[in-house]
Amino acid sequence: MLSLNIDLPDTSYPIIIEKDIIKKIGKKILPYAQRKKIVIVTDKNVDALYGDALIQNIEKSGFQVHLIRLYPGENSKSLGVLECVYKELLNFDMTKSDLLIAFGGGVIGDLTGFAAATFLRGIPFIQIPTSLIAQVDSSIGGKTAVNLKEGKNLVGSFYHPRAVFIDPQLLHSLKPRFFSDGMAEVIKYGCIKDSELFSKLETLNQKQLISHMDEIILRCCEIKKRIVEEDEKDESTRMLLNFGHTFGHAVEKIYHYKKYTHGEAVAVGMYHITGKSEEMGYTQKGTAERIKNLLIKFNLPFNLPDIDEASLSEALSPDKKSRGNDIHLVLLKAIGESFIHLADKKNLKEFIIKEGVKV
Ligand code: GLY
Repeated sequence: MLSLNIDLPDTSYPIIIEKDIIKKIGKKILPYAQRKKIVIVTDKNVDALYGDALIQNIEKSGFQVHLIRLYPGENSKSLGVLECVYKELLNFDMTKSDLLIAFGGGVIGDLTGFAAATFLRGIPFIQIPTSLIAQVDSSIGGKTAVNLKEGKNLVGSFYHPRAVFIDPQLLHSLKPRFFSDGMAEVIKYGCIKDSELFSKLETLNQKQLISHMDEIILRCCEIKKRIVEEDEKDESTRMLLNFGHTFGHAVEKIYHYKKYTHGEAVAVGMYHITGKSEEMGYTQKGTAERIKNLLIKFNLPFNLPDIDEASLSEALSPDKKSRGNDIHLVLLKAIGESFIHLADKKNLKEFIIKEGVKV
């Protein structure tokens, strides 16, 4: 078992990484449950694989369990689905002392976290992330949200879970494309804060990677812990976690969140921005090439698709969540060293078009 603690002024909670932890989850959650009612929110795919075993295990510890099963995918992160979740919580007579469990990927974690933050002005919840991207990123740090039709994550709050239980064994049932999706965020951590992690990813073969997965997840969680403890509310250092995301979000948006997974879009964004910043002299030469090779190794795309400049520029415009007209671009000095570069709409163009680069 590996573990670490997120320590913030108003809360502190453990992240526990252990193979097959879901087989003993009933006992593990005992310290966090004041009463006997538990609602699990999951999606149909996760439920089909692990739902029954999870419920039985929790019931064995004496809990009364209700399961809410949602459709997989981003469409479930909506106000409509949130209202259905509230109604199910009411029908099950959930009180402020009962416990909610998010059992799924990022969509389930974000939606359940926001339901927990707002139902009865806040009830306790636990994260059991099942995808790699949720295990290394979205289940930690307290960002919860739903989408509006105008954009992703426009309604949300910072609300932390009581504990995060990560079972790396669950990754074996992930489709290869979604394993790669999570690896993009793992590569991101190496890029922004940890050259050793980056080098390790360059060296390990597939078999070694699988056997080192617990430590790799721990390393990512440690980096996120340090960043979140320094800047919980995303006002400074936490923005470094957005490396590759400015162009990544634009690509996701242009293709209506259908063609690229989040990780794939971030992969493209990391390579693109680093290529540009290298040309501009901000980044050590050869950095973009190393990123590209690692993305190829993990079956991730790296080239920005053939999007016209105007659409890209429009998709990159500061949105409702930006502060004023500036965009905070995250750049690398070298692998493992990142910084924030403020760009306004005008000088953002430099990062779009450069001689010899197709956009
Ligand atoms: N996923 C980025 C953050 O938690 O800030």
